[in-house]
Amino acid sequence: MKKTKVGIVGCGMISDTYFKASQKFNMIEVVACADIIPARAEKKTELYGVPNMTNDALFAMPEIEIVINLTPPQVHSKIATDTLNAGKHAYSEKPFGVDSDDAAKVIALGKAKNLRVGCAPDTFLGAGQQTARKILDDGWIGKPLCGTAIVMGRGPEKWPQAPFFYDYGAGPMLDLGPYYMTALVNLLGPAKSVTAVTTKGFDFRTYGPEVAEQYQDKYKPFDKYPVTVTTHLTGVVEFVCGAVITVVASFDVYKHGHRPIEIYGTEGSMQVPDPNTFGGPVTVCRKGQKEWQEVPLSHVYADNSRSIGAADMAIALRNNRPHRVNGDLANHVLDIMLSFDKSSKAGQKIELGTTCQRPKALPLGLEVGELDD
Ligand SMILES: NC(=O)c1ccc[n+]([C@@H]2O[C@H](COP(=O)([O-])OP(=O)(O)OC[C@H]3O[C@@H](n4cnc5c(N)ncnc54)[C@H](O)[C@@H]3O)[C@@H](O)[C@H]2O)c1
Repeated sequence: MKKTKVGIVGCGMISDTYFKASQKFNMIEVVACADIIPARAEKKTELYGVPNMTNDALFAMPEIEIVINLTPPQVHSKIATDTLNAGKHAYSEKPFGVDSDDAAKVIALGKAKNLRVGCAPDTFLGAGQQTARKILDDGWIGKPLCGTAIVMGRGPEKWPQAPFFYDYGAGPMLDLGPYYMTALVNLLGPAKSVTAVTTKGFDFRTYGPEVAEQYQDKYKPFDKYPVTVTTHLTGVVEFVCGAVITVVASFDVYKHGHRPIEIYGTEGSMQVPDPNTFGGPVTVCRKGQKEWQEVPLSHVYADNSRSIGAADMAIALRNNRPHRVNGDLANHVLDIMLSFDKSSKAGQKIELGTTCQRPKALPLGLEVGELDD
């Protein structure tokens, strides 16, 4: 199969998975990389033999069809815009952006230029989420009525990149919410409203010694730094299909006992695995049963397959079919996520201004490395 050539912009922590995509998926090949800190791109050249260059040089390479944007969220819309203006398809890591107007402009530019736009998370193409989707589509739990999506922890305060997580463009919703909201749209289709109350449990955070190295001494370990985003968001997302899902996303909680996602339907209940992973388990308890029962995974891609969304975009381009991990989906997910703070601030329900198609389920019987035509 002829491989689609891709370039990577942003050679940080997550980039290794994407550099390895050429080995996992037979439809894409990484041929160039760039980073605003050249030493980071040079390191990837050493590791993977992929030539490094400036962003502009990468955008100018005629053979590159897709640019994979692995920069921080605040830069996503700018790099996507540069990519589309260079005449290439734009695929980004999550979130799609940090500002709904900028994100909408990227969608409009892609449509105007007839170029594809895509954005992670692609974990919903994993075995766990696709099995849950099949259970729903096959009617095992009937019509979905309600459910929960809960992602809580004490936050990544001791990570080398800790300051990023408590600043504009991050917080638990923009950092982890994309996995949960995308999983919900994959299961239930588009949403129509969000009603929420959002808060901040701690005004200051104390970062560990690793931050000094990562941020070249901009932050001193064990000093207190202000938290500028909400770190606890509680709300209800109402879906067009009628289901209402209670959502909690928090960096303020030491321990809890909730499952990542549960969906309750007219014929039974389903526990959906962590949408920040590709695997299971999926469990179901149907009307008349007393205990949860684990359902064998129906699909491939149970191990870490990040970049499968870009691979799907490549094969979709070749065969002129819609790609699953697409801009409309990511933009709708961003709208849902940003509406939590909007609703809390306004003290009212927010009717969403965006929508999207529910992405097509993956077929059964694929081999690892394959996607459908
Ligand atoms: N690290 C993870 O585990 C993880 C997992 C899933 C998704 N993500 C997402 O991936 C993206 C990147 O995360 P990361 O953890 O790799 O961050 P990172 O900070 O380690 O890497 C980002 C890289 O982008 C570079 N960069 C910044 N601005 C640039 C520009 N204008 N042009 C070129 N390069 C630029 C930085 O120098 C840095 O090397 C984020 O959106 C994040 O949410 C990260």
